[in-house]
Amino acid sequence: MTLHELISTRVAAALAAVGVPDAPAAVAPASRPEFGDYQANGVMGAAKKLKQNPRELAGKVIDALDLDGIASKIEIAGPGFINITLDDGFLAAQVARQHGDVRLGTGADVAQKVVIDYSSPNLAKEMHVGHLRSTIIGDALARVLRFMGHEVIAQNHVGDWGTQFGMLTAYLVEREEDGSDDTLALDDLEGFYRAAKLRFDEDEAFATRARDYVVKLQSGDVRVRALWERFLDISLTHCEAVYAKLGVQLTRDDVMGESAYNDDLAPVVADLKAKGLVTESEGAQVVFLDEFKNKDGEPQAYIVQKQDGGFLYSTSDLAAARYRADKLKADRALYVVDARQGLHFQQVFTVARKAGFVPADMQLEHVAFGTMMGEDGKPFKTRSGGVVKLAELLAEAEQRAFDLVSSKNPDLDEAARRQIARVVGIGAVKYADLSKHRTSDYVFDWNTMLSFEGNTAPYLQYAYTRIASIFRQAGEFDAHAAIRIAEPAEHQLALQLAQFPELLQQVAADTCPHFLCAYLYQLATKFSRFYEACPVLKSEGDVRASRLALCAATAKTLSTGLGLLGIDVLEAM
Ligand code: ARG
Repeated sequence: MTLHELISTRVAAALAAVGVPDAPAAVAPASRPEFGDYQANGVMGAAKKLKQNPRELAGKVIDALDLDGIASKIEIAGPGFINITLDDGFLAAQVARQHGDVRLGTGADVAQKVVIDYSSPNLAKEMHVGHLRSTIIGDALARVLRFMGHEVIAQNHVGDWGTQFGMLTAYLVEREEDGSDDTLALDDLEGFYRAAKLRFDEDEAFATRARDYVVKLQSGDVRVRALWERFLDISLTHCEAVYAKLGVQLTRDDVMGESAYNDDLAPVVADLKAKGLVTESEGAQVVFLDEFKNKDGEPQAYIVQKQDGGFLYSTSDLAAARYRADKLKADRALYVVDARQGLHFQQVFTVARKAGFVPADMQLEHVAFGTMMGEDGKPFKTRSGGVVKLAELLAEAEQRAFDLVSSKNPDLDEAARRQIARVVGIGAVKYADLSKHRTSDYVFDWNTMLSFEGNTAPYLQYAYTRIASIFRQAGEFDAHAAIRIAEPAEHQLALQLAQFPELLQQVAADTCPHFLCAYLYQLATKFSRFYEACPVLKSEGDVRASRLALCAATAKTLSTGLGLLGIDVLEAM
């Protein structure tokens, strides 16, 4: 049970004891240290119900409130808030218990099976910055949920199907036939795509062949399929290079692309028809949803099969939802996809539920994210207005970090500086993304993300390194020595540490990694205050041992937290 749950339960019991069992306890971390550690704000609402004076009722609730051994002070404040200060001994024990647990006290009471659809680039082209956000956010959520004991099934729903692939395989064949080295051309997927498109637009015979290939591909023609597979293999290898650079845990086994649902598409539409959900409209098969009205107040159309019989992105997503429910038996499915696909997912979820493709108790969530902007406030592009390739962006991050490290630490040998630059550069890019509320657009700015001050990866990585250097100076010590809290700065630090489980619970429930970033930043700040106010190495005996144990718990929580964001730490930098 987290601190928050513990206090909420006790306050709820006290409210029940004074005759308002269904009044919410409304417990929250105190907004300021002078209000204690937690505040219960539920009394005012309860008093209204009972038509009683709220301060008087607060007094009765406090009399009934059993926080023996948990709180050292309980006070009424303002119109009837209850301020709770935790007992130092209780807090110390809480930190010690957490520090001794492999999950740092975050283990979920009920382990769920969670499908996370993330990264999911289109394989016709190279991965671009839009997929960076999905990849990083999805990876962080996967790590958090796994750490808490949930079973995570990653699904890389790559775009590997559709008419472009006819064109691309046709072009691959052509290059092969005229003896050009296609693997060379495919080093630059973007260029390959452009060249193929040019052929398609300019040469009618080529275009016809490309269309023929689409048909052959969909009907399972062995030769065309083999070519298509080769193309996918090359494209996926490009993605994997990016994953490796990012330290993202996706593998080939996680790839479950649009093509995988090919055989399910006709049955999905047939099923929708059988359930009376589909209407024919201008030759296309359409689901009309009352839930979604267009500008004129008419039900919005959700097309599942085109006039020419072809299926769409929308059809494969229905098949995927059904697969995730039936085959993967997920309790919860997360879709980490650009916010601009919001309507699409609301429609997928609604149709999937109406059709009974997913059970009522399976959670379906669109984990939407905003657009990455350039410094000019427009969607992030290269100087010439092209798409920014991820591989190049990450190379630049490492180079910039290398220059920075070299200027700070010119005497370090080059290999060491490169190693630090990799951890700091990639960490900075990821953290800059994860620390923003995911639904907002954010400006990609090298200088801010690489700063050693403020809510950045370098600041937190440096905070960790500072603690590591304390340990080196301390010599041998017991990381799990008895913690004794005496100073306010120790109390604040211990409280922050003890709140890690409830914080992670919130990250998992709301799928918002920026909560974790804000938490870690606060932890680093509270540690700094503690370190200023409470000498560690210069103190003696039990006090020194206790403070070193607090340092150890902080280091552990910092490195674990950063690790859950997919960011590494360094023992020295
Ligand atoms: N490939 C799509 C794109 O790049 C994203 C796919 C997201 N997942 C899904 N199940 N639709 O826009």
